[in-house]
Amino acid sequence: MYNGLLHLHSLMRWIILVLLVLAIVRHYKGMNQKLSYSASDRKIDLFLMISAHITLIIGLYQWFAGEFGFSKIRDMGFGEVMKNAPFRFFAVEHMFGMLLAITFITIGRGKGKPATAGAAEHKKAFGWLLVALIIILLTVPWPFREGIGRPWFPGMH
Ligand code: HEM
Repeated sequence: MYNGLLHLHSLMRWIILVLLVLAIVRHYKGMNQKLSYSASDRKIDLFLMISAHITLIIGLYQWFAGEFGFSKIRDMGFGEVMKNAPFRFFAVEHMFGMLLAITFITIGRGKGKPATAGAAEHKKAFGWLLVALIIILLTVPWPFREGIGRPWFPGMH
């Protein structure tokens, strides 16, 4: 089961990235062309938030049940984990970075809640989601990252 969920967690990154870029482009347009929120704007933000929360739940499970999160800190001590870059990545940086990004996605989605949401809300959502995108790009274990690289797609090596 662990491996299946890890594959899902890995795949969800692409769904999140596609929805996130789409949402950022739409909010950018909405802010510049002073558009009110459309049903599609709200739907994309909502699907993005749901995808992020599913990935968060799987991630929490991996962090507590897997080899790269809590068990590292328990076995080696927090100080030693912090001194070892690959161990620090999953136990601390990936976890905190992604928690922050998912919080920003949730805040960004909330901007479209008022029925009157328009250009000002598009601008706020754009800002929150752009920061979330930057954090995600920085804290995904991309295959080219030394010591922590993981496959582009689940099951690929
Ligand atoms: C937007 C949110 C997230 C994205 C895009 C993301 C992406 C990824 C990717 C691509 C991997 C590598 C998968 C593989 O080896 O094929 C990974 C692994 C991992 N993620 Fe995330 N993640 C996110 C959120 C989180 C959160 C919030 C946590 C913890 C609370 C977490 C904990 C982990 C752990 C512990 C691993 C390593 C698991 C293992 O190899 O046993 N992730 N993540």
